[in-house]
Amino acid sequence: MKTLLACLSLLTLTYGNGLWAQDSSRGKTLFKTCVQCHGNSGEGKIEKSAPRIGGQHDWYIYSTLNLFKSGTRKNPDMNPYIANLTDQDFKDLAAYVSKL
Ligand code: HEC
Repeated sequence: MKTLLACLSLLTLTYGNGLWAQDSSRGKTLFKTCVQCHGNSGEGKIEKSAPRIGGQHDWYIYSTLNLFKSGTRKNPDMNPYIANLTDQDFKDLAAYVSKL
């Protein structure tokens, strides 16, 4: 619970600063490791139990990736693919995926 609260307050602080600097072309490159499960357009894949994420709000994608990375939300399949990504990577991914 403490971790969750810390996460939420961190996110509130982040969003409080307004627009992020996002680079969706970088996000496109980063997304290449995600398509095997989430599909080229982020449409999701039933056989991988991977949900549709294309067109999702950028803030939701960004906050969810942080929850996975912090271990608050757990998914053993996905974790290896995001464990080494940075905060900027998450922002760029969110920018790209939200426009799919
Ligand atoms: C090995 C398959 C796999 C890979 C690779 C993968 N994911 Fe996932 N992803 C999943 C699964 C399965 C879930 C559902 C997790 C759960 O159980 O809640 C998920 C959930 C998500 C969610 C949350 C969706 C929601 O509606 O809450 C986001 C966002 C996401 N993935 C983004 C990514 C991104 C970005 C990448 C690439 C850096 C990636 N994933 C790579 C399998 C994968």
